[in-house]
Amino acid sequence: MIVLGFESSCDETGVALVCTEKGLLAHALHTQVAMHAAYGGVVPELASRDHVRRIIPLTRAVLAETGLTLQDVGAVAYTAGPGLAGALLVGASVAQSLAWSLDLPAIAIHHLEGHLLSPRLADPCPEFPFVALLVSGGHTQLMRVDDVGCYTLLGETMDDAAGEAFDKTAKLLGLGYPGGPALAHLAEQGNAEAITLPRPMLHSGNLDFSFSGLKTAVLTRLKTAQTQAIVSETLAADLAAATQAAIVDVLVAKSVLALDQTGLKRLVVAGGVGANRQLRSKLALALKKRKAEAFFPPLDLCTDNGAMIAFAAAQRISKGLVDLADKRHGFDVRPRWDLATTAT
Ligand code: KG4
Ligand code: ZN
Repeated sequence: MIVLGFESSCDETGVALVCTEKGLLAHALHTQVAMHAAYGGVVPELASRDHVRRIIPLTRAVLAETGLTLQDVGAVAYTAGPGLAGALLVGASVAQSLAWSLDLPAIAIHHLEGHLLSPRLADPCPEFPFVALLVSGGHTQLMRVDDVGCYTLLGETMDDAAGEAFDKTAKLLGLGYPGGPALAHLAEQGNAEAITLPRPMLHSGNLDFSFSGLKTAVLTRLKTAQTQAIVSETLAADLAAATQAAIVDVLVAKSVLALDQTGLKRLVVAGGVGANRQLRSKLALALKKRKAEAFFPPLDLCTDNGAMIAFAAAQRISKGLVDLADKRHGFDVRPRWDLATTAT
């Protein structure tokens, strides 16, 4: 069966076609990064309006790329939450109206389920069960994943998400929005050992995280340098490298602890921060030492995209978790939505 999927929870409009047997057929993405950059962050109303502009042309693009028509589609999937309410409503209303007009089921997908199943689009595909490290702009969680729809929360951040820590520190360093990739880029020129930053909750013994203290530590360091008039390019690069190293160290240590506590040997990394090269290499190294394996989504599918939403729906269909006969088309979105409540 062919699933048409929509993602519009934040600042990326994503549309994809996934076949339950053959996998990803095509995906198209429009990022609003340039539009929001002038404001230093996502402006929700502008995001919603841009999703309205992009979603139909992107749908036409994936259909044209595959040579398929809407008549070939067997189900429509969309991100129902969590995310920005207005932005979510664009994807939900387009998906539901299309499904209604084509007499197809419409499947509401949790955004984080999309992220955490997305590494299964890669080759090799991680088998269940595995530990998932979800690291995005809004979430930092460790989950035990026993199957599609079987998710147990092992630990999460008490305050800022890992992506948020990258973004906020980048802002302090004047790197603009989005900060993660820019900070990672600047970090390549810096010396992480030149500055010691805290590793919050590293030895807490549990699987929770805390990142909000990091930006305060960076701010204090910057203020001291400002009063001494010694803010230099070198200091900025060293701070970027030290911040990245602190975040990566904590993520690696907690991921290893999660594998130890669950006795599992597979770790799947998902979400925007999963694109970070240092995180990828340090995790791969730490896991190799323990004869465990790390799996990552393809780089272009780390950040928000439609492929992960269509793919999550396709996997739910394949597992028999979707009532395909259900063609009711009333809908609602859930800007706040706990992934554990989607468990089967
Ligand atoms: O998953 P995602 O696209 O959106 C959310 O659902 O939040 O993640 C976006 C987050 C942002 O905080 C961004 O700065 C971060 O992922 N990010 C990175 C990198 N690429 C994206 N952080 C560190 N290094 C990167 N290369
Ligand atoms: Zn995301």
